[in-house]
Amino acid sequence: MTMPTILLIGASRGLGHAMAAEFLKKGWNVVGTVRGGGRTKLHELADACAGRVEIETLDIREPDQIAALRDRLAGRVFDMLFVNAGVTNNPSETIGDVTTDEFVRVMVTNALSPMRVIESLQPLVAATGIIGVMSSGQGSIANNTMGLREVYRGSKAALNMFMRSFAARAGAQHPMVVMAPGWVRTDMGGPEGRLSIDESIPNLVNVLLAKQGKPGLEYLDYLGNAVPW
Ligand SMILES: NC(=O)c1ccc[n+]([C@@H]2O[C@H](COP(=O)([O-])OP(=O)(O)OC[C@H]3O[C@@H](n4cnc5c(N)ncnc54)[C@H](OP(=O)(O)O)[C@@H]3O)[C@@H](O)[C@H]2O)c1
Repeated sequence: MTMPTILLIGASRGLGHAMAAEFLKKGWNVVGTVRGGGRTKLHELADACAGRVEIETLDIREPDQIAALRDRLAGRVFDMLFVNAGVTNNPSETIGDVTTDEFVRVMVTNALSPMRVIESLQPLVAATGIIGVMSSGQGSIANNTMGLREVYRGSKAALNMFMRSFAARAGAQHPMVVMAPGWVRTDMGGPEGRLSIDESIPNLVNVLLAKQGKPGLEYLDYLGNAVPW
């Protein structure tokens, strides 16, 4: 029997690396992307799981690299495409403070680039395969009563909106998700995060596996609860 395969964008460290490890535990094979030529935690995973992890390179901000990856993977069929890559900025910076360059960096990385990846690579996804992105609870407009992290919130809310447009246009045949992993202790989440990676990612992967066979777009947290848009 052929094992299912996930194409996981942004798997060098943090939540993306943990997702790769968890999918391997579930018996999936992983094609994971990293930036640049350096050795990452994904390379360690590949060494430990001979033949089950393929490593590709992609900076999601570079359209030429997205096109090159699509060409290299032509003919492959993936059971899931998940874009995890993302960045943050200084969380206390308000929309009034942020420089245009910094605003553009966060919006292009978190909102435009994941959608470019999905638009370009979705022909490689099986008809019933899942298309997902790592959003954030901070992307919920309805839940934003606290403020803070204004630019990051805006980028994830924009990502959510672009996924809704994509789902409306592409038709709802694929199961699609925008995921909120919780506040997790990673390089991005910092040491104060509420959850360890082990408290978030195995649950999040179970939510993705449970979404199989359920077409249409949902905004879900790591426990499978619907997040208000
Ligand atoms: N941690 C949290 O509490 C939390 C909460 C909600 C949502 N999220 C979201 O979860 C995702 C992963 O977060 P994390 O906590 O694991 O962050 P992280 O530890 O900072 O890791 C970020 C990942 O994104 C990759 N990346 C960043 N820019 C990229 C680009 N231009 N092209 C390709 N890859 C790029 C990084 O690759 P390099 O190693 O090459 O830099 C790394 O693999 C992000 O989308 C984040 O917004 C995190």
